[in-house]
Amino acid sequence: MGLTLTEKILQHAVKNENLTRGSRIGLYADQTLSHDLNVIMTYLALENMGLEKKKVPEAFQYVDHNMIQADFKNADDHRYIQGMAEKLGITLAKSGSGICHFMHLEHYAKPGKVLIGGDSHVPACGGVGSFGLGVGGFDNALAIAGEPVYISMPKIVRVTLTGELQPFVSAKNVVLELLRRVGVKGGVGKVFEYSGEGVLTLNVSERATITNMGTETGATSSLFPSDEETLKWLKAFGREEDYVPLSADVDARYDEDIYIDLTVLEPLIALPSLPDKVVRVREVEGTPIDQVMIGSCTNTSAQDLLQVAKILEGMDVASSVELGIYPSSRTVIRELLKSPAYRSLVTAGARIFEPSCGGCNGCGFAPATGAISLRTTPRNFPGRSGTKNDQVYLTAPETAAASALRGVITDPRDLGKKPAVYTLPERFDDHQKDYLHFPGNPQAQIIKGSNITPIPEFGTLPDTVSLPVVLKTGDDITTDIICPAGALYLPIRSNIPEISKVSFHLVDPTFHDRAKALQGSILVTGANYGQGSSREQAAIIPRYLGIQAILAKSFARLHLANLVNWGVLPLIFQKDQDYEAILPQDVLQIENTGELQEGQLVLVRNLTQGTAFFVNLPLFQEDIDALKHGGTVNAVKYKLQA
Ligand code: F3S
Repeated sequence: MGLTLTEKILQHAVKNENLTRGSRIGLYADQTLSHDLNVIMTYLALENMGLEKKKVPEAFQYVDHNMIQADFKNADDHRYIQGMAEKLGITLAKSGSGICHFMHLEHYAKPGKVLIGGDSHVPACGGVGSFGLGVGGFDNALAIAGEPVYISMPKIVRVTLTGELQPFVSAKNVVLELLRRVGVKGGVGKVFEYSGEGVLTLNVSERATITNMGTETGATSSLFPSDEETLKWLKAFGREEDYVPLSADVDARYDEDIYIDLTVLEPLIALPSLPDKVVRVREVEGTPIDQVMIGSCTNTSAQDLLQVAKILEGMDVASSVELGIYPSSRTVIRELLKSPAYRSLVTAGARIFEPSCGGCNGCGFAPATGAISLRTTPRNFPGRSGTKNDQVYLTAPETAAASALRGVITDPRDLGKKPAVYTLPERFDDHQKDYLHFPGNPQAQIIKGSNITPIPEFGTLPDTVSLPVVLKTGDDITTDIICPAGALYLPIRSNIPEISKVSFHLVDPTFHDRAKALQGSILVTGANYGQGSSREQAAIIPRYLGIQAILAKSFARLHLANLVNWGVLPLIFQKDQDYEAILPQDVLQIENTGELQEGQLVLVRNLTQGTAFFVNLPLFQEDIDALKHGGTVNAVKYKLQA
């Protein structure tokens, strides 16, 4: 039996473990990637562990998320990050250089390598055939320290692409089509491996758009083979020595098959406020819009922006619309400057921001109250733009540009323009001076700003959990809801007491006060709890507010790992009726948590209603044992102290 691409890559990253689907495997990273927002917790954890120098072969640090320096907080964080990178020997791209996933794709991602990083969109580097795994800050710390990060071996889905994309139908539409078919939970526990003749028609930045936004299906990762297109990309960055050809064996075993014919794809758009509410642009054409944002790690390559510039060339953005553009990297800006493209964007009336996440996570360019914003970002979760009750649509850059011109949602094919013909340059105008290469320095000066507070300490799991339900929610609670994004909140992300005050405020503004007053409670929720980003604060905050257990219909993979790290017991309903029957404030009891075993059913008593039901424990024995210590963070600390 042949091997899938995933199996071929992962077999070098595990020790003595077989890659049976569903088994627990420990992955040793070849590379790690961190960004400013999530890395503070990572570096605090590494300081606690006493790590003097990185142990992973290659480690990279980007500063792209928290860029607004309205006061000292973000600047203090950037200074602390630089100090830690210098100390540990981590290569640093300073603030303003570009968005981590795209910069990594440009300069360091390598086919066949395992890249572990503190962000959910790390699978973007699957565009060059690197296996990207997004993890929380603590798991990122373990990877930097040369320790394995444990996951459940995913199922592998073959996505066969046939045909060729038509003019004004770009790669974003491929992943929107995938989301339309499988939804935001359809990729949980799976890797999407792309194959078929259609793959050859896509260059690396197009492939990376697809692998990046594959995260929105809940997938563990997404992967393209490494082929002639990969070699062209690597050559264009002077990295041909990183090339290795890689593809799945013809007789590889896949768990599922999906077929997408690129030729018949049309411009697509996701309606507010989930990335899988995908319809054809034709179905919502004519809807007035107020704002367009072209940016994010998903969709602002040189190719994307040259196409946008071509559409805007010689025309003006509608007077009712504001258009903001965030290029992916300085390399992309230099590429635009080589042609009349930059001038076309500026002359049409676009605001061009520095290369960063910016408006994607609400750090700038928030829409007005009640305004409709059309974005090329991967996510449109409620409030993520920075504006409460926002109305964000997700689409491809061509649709965004055409709509900016007309002031209404517009199919780009209706403008009667010719698309730009893009050819990958033989050599990008690329500057290594965007990076600081630190060899490691134990004497590096580490300055911690007052906004960086110590990691909270948590106790062990009590043998009997008998607590009231503090909150009951519906499905699809995102990490943005648990720990809000936006320029107001991101700078206090490293200050758990402060950020906890706005946890769940979109769902229940009284949550923080009630949870804190109870000093011990249980949360009940629906399907796909914790979908979205890797931010572990979304696990730390509930724990800090006294939540000991979360009963859900299902959990997002990354968030489940974060809950285990921080000592919150995750349990899964067997029957929807059990979820329905629970009322807020009911007291639930779980006994003998010290004896929990992998695969067992756990009895939950509803003391208020006098009923009882069984739930599943979705964990391996190692995770259960860590939970008994109060989470993996505690378990590792005890191991190091022993
Ligand atoms: Fe940044 Fe948005 Fe990507 S926050 S990493 S541009 S999803």
